[in-house]
Amino acid sequence: MSAETQQRGKDPKDSIIRMDRLCNLSREKSYDHYELFDWPETVDEKSFLMSPQLLSVAETSFVDELTHEQMVKLSHYEQYNYSSLNTHGERELIIDVIDRMHTPKYEIFTEYMHHLVEEENAHLWFFAQFCKRYGVLYQPKKIVLPSSFPDDVNDFLVFARLMIFEEIVVYFNKVMSTDPCLPKIVRDINRTHFVDESRHIAFGRDIVGVLYHCINFSSHGDEKEMRLNISNYIKAYINGMLRLFYPLHAYTDAGIPDPYEFRSKLMKSPQRHGFHQKIVSKQVAFFLKRDILMEESLNTGETIGVL
Ligand SMILES: [Fe+2]
Ligand SMILES: [Fe+2]
Repeated sequence: MSAETQQRGKDPKDSIIRMDRLCNLSREKSYDHYELFDWPETVDEKSFLMSPQLLSVAETSFVDELTHEQMVKLSHYEQYNYSSLNTHGERELIIDVIDRMHTPKYEIFTEYMHHLVEEENAHLWFFAQFCKRYGVLYQPKKIVLPSSFPDDVNDFLVFARLMIFEEIVVYFNKVMSTDPCLPKIVRDINRTHFVDESRHIAFGRDIVGVLYHCINFSSHGDEKEMRLNISNYIKAYINGMLRLFYPLHAYTDAGIPDPYEFRSKLMKSPQRHGFHQKIVSKQVAFFLKRDILMEESLNTGETIGVL
């Protein structure tokens, strides 16, 4: 990264210091994921498995319309959906990270990328274990996005997607890590993930800023158009991520009558917009501050958080 970064006026020394600090923290906090948790034989079918305030029905009239038993069952399958998203989402994202390790552009980030990949490997294992031991590991769900960007833009988008994904999942981790109504294994998994992801997000915020700075806009045609395309992509990815938290397969498995209609009503519910804003407000502010998200893109088409 150093030569290219210096050419475009950004001093890499700050990133080097931050990566060193993150590497040290990862070494200090390392653990054996195979031995870390006490896995109970079963999880109580009568207990919530996901915090009620995180369910896709939270803050809507469905909270009063569903019985307690239906809410508990929904919490089980939304937890399996959430844990499956973590498994497949991180697996797909780290493939792109591994692809870039030990290439000149990523010289100052590669050491930390090894820690990130190692930690994500642990996360994939324990989220998948949780699903397979107690419920179901759902198959991956795709977010459909435009894919034809120049290489340097793709490099930026890889780490932007990773950061967006991680900032959304840690919101859920943070709440579940201390929720006394959840089984201990759920709190433990979410606390472990929250601690690791806090470092990944610090890395993400650094590398995303650097890689955007490294895009050679003058070689990609109309600069304003390319910046707008990137901004629209970021907006579409955030909304695509939020849609994954309205899982038809989980509603079906939880026995919700007419799951299509249920999902459609929830996604259109204005009460859900406030919840989405809470989840994404920090990352939206990050992208806006760096002019990566542009007002023109925010003011046209779909709005962030309104599905
Ligand atoms: Fe993770
Ligand atoms: Fe991560």
